[in-house]
Amino acid sequence: MRGTFAGSTVLRSYWHAVARPDALLDGPLAITLLGERLVVWRAPGGELAAAVDRCPHREAPLSAGTVVAGGLQCPYHGWTYDEGGRCVLVPSAGTGAAIPPRAVLQSVRAAERYGLIWLCLDEPAAPIPTIAEDTEPGFRRINQPVERWAASATRLVDNFLDTAHFPFVHLGSFGGAADPEVARVELEPLGDFYGYQYEVEAVNSAAGASASGQAAATVSRRMSTGFALPFLVRSTIEYATGLRHTLLLASAPIDDEATWFTFVVWRNDDFSVPGDEVTRLDRMIGAEDKRMLEQVPGPLPLDATTLVNVQADRASLEWKRRFNDLLGDR
Ligand code: FES
Ligand SMILES: [Fe+2]
Repeated sequence: MRGTFAGSTVLRSYWHAVARPDALLDGPLAITLLGERLVVWRAPGGELAAAVDRCPHREAPLSAGTVVAGGLQCPYHGWTYDEGGRCVLVPSAGTGAAIPPRAVLQSVRAAERYGLIWLCLDEPAAPIPTIAEDTEPGFRRINQPVERWAASATRLVDNFLDTAHFPFVHLGSFGGAADPEVARVELEPLGDFYGYQYEVEAVNSAAGASASGQAAATVSRRMSTGFALPFLVRSTIEYATGLRHTLLLASAPIDDEATWFTFVVWRNDDFSVPGDEVTRLDRMIGAEDKRMLEQVPGPLPLDATTLVNVQADRASLEWKRRFNDLLGDR
């Protein structure tokens, strides 16, 4: 199918954010990433672990199992695996019996960063991009739930790099004051990201006022938006008061047409307004994008001729060019 990408092996070499750590409190978690069914769990010693969700004995899903004192226990015959995926117990064989050498889960790399669980299915080609605010003094981090969007990850990234939809899709949140004409932007490296800087007039009602910490009817926001291949977008918003509000928009392909999406916010405010309140505008904006994108079927066509492009699509076209380079011949 046109625009398919999730089967490309190169995407297995990148880190993808799929869940929040608290999702593991009740036991192992089933996660599909790039079409692969995986299990993520917290081992009894506290280590984060992940593997292909298939027991080598009779292929039962380990995500339906339980974390017991000895490790991750398969729900079918109780074989139990340690955090490295090695079988440590075959109950039917009795204690002390030799473990079949091939009784090993296909392990997947797992890491915790920015309040998220990240998975990488192969040898990582690049580290998780650095968000400087995460270690800068004066900033707090606010996480959001991971949502399943019935929209392609390629559509999400294309949308997050696009400002021309603001006065239309975001009319209900901040877009009412945005100029529909999009100025030409220059693309440049922005830390681990690549993108552009611009200014936008934003409606500053209720949720906007909580985010901006100002009471005026509209506020000017100095923004930067950039991508890190394959699917991460960082957006920074600076107000005249010196308040900086940085967002990481993380999209992980479930398959070609569905996506795990979450965002993380860092802010250098005085911490007096609850995190839920200062991110209310961002959640409204996210819901507006979701409503739009879930109406657009299939993945973004990646060829050069299917879509019609204009000047305002420059950043998303640059992402598409680099994404195509990354995918290579497939
Ligand atoms: S299928 Fe897992 S123990 Fe038999
Ligand atoms: Fe949007």
